[in-house]
Amino acid sequence: MTSPPIYDTIGVGYAKARRADARVEAQIHNLLGGAASILNIGAGTGNYEPTDRLVLAVEPAGEMLRQRTNSHPVVQGVAEALPVADDSFDVSMGILTVHHWTDRNRGLRELKRVSRQQLLWVYDPEITKQFWLAEYFPSIAVAPWEVNAPTPADLAEVLDVVEVRTLEIPADCTDGFTGCYWNRPDRYLDPDVQAGMSTLSKLDQKVRAEGCARLAADLESGAWDAKYGELRTQESFDIGYRLVLAGQPIR
Ligand SMILES: C[S@@+](CC[C@H](N)C(=O)[O-])C[C@H]1O[C@@H](n2cnc3c(N)ncnc32)[C@H](O)[C@@H]1O
Repeated sequence: MTSPPIYDTIGVGYAKARRADARVEAQIHNLLGGAASILNIGAGTGNYEPTDRLVLAVEPAGEMLRQRTNSHPVVQGVAEALPVADDSFDVSMGILTVHHWTDRNRGLRELKRVSRQQLLWVYDPEITKQFWLAEYFPSIAVAPWEVNAPTPADLAEVLDVVEVRTLEIPADCTDGFTGCYWNRPDRYLDPDVQAGMSTLSKLDQKVRAEGCARLAADLESGAWDAKYGELRTQESFDIGYRLVLAGQPIR
């Protein structure tokens, strides 16, 4: 028997914690260019989907589908077995989803089968492991979703990568993904914020509580600010997020 999609559990409250950031969205839509048809895989609640063209959302978790608000059609399914015909979309896109797939390369081959172009938002684990949050939650580094996270070079083993764009995260970013609060450390102590980040919500409860206690103590004593306070003055930061474009140009 296959296990139920993990986001049926950890996705509760997702739409509240995770709202598309307008600056990030503009960069994604810029890379989508003139694509007329888009397959959004691991689509979740619909963040970053354009509303001015044809989009089909593919998502395994019913809980995520339940929280969608736009009117795009949806199909329940996984990247590894896309329920659509060969070459049926201009672009297939995957936003912060590839590290969750059970068979990454099989999923990537599926994206290539169904679309002329592929657009992925991923994080490069070689860079994100240096993010200060890992100091408080060191078990993140050995978590399956971290070990499974592809570098752009890993993606290029299957996809014909044409561009890798660094996605700097704005200081007042609104989408609560793991690196969102790089300059607002106190936000990681909020249970609602933790619930919106698979990196923290999938951690053992005791491990998460210990990390939070260490972070709270360092914020209270000024130790965090002594080491990382400079971040509070920056307008944006590169934590390792990358937009990867692959495939043929869309005419
Ligand atoms: C962090 S959420 C991202 C959701 C959405 N793309 C967004 O940007 O808000 C990751 C999503 O990937 C989905 N997912 C997990 N395994 C998957 C798989 N094998 N194929 C497709 N999607 C998957 C999860 O159910 C979840 O909705």
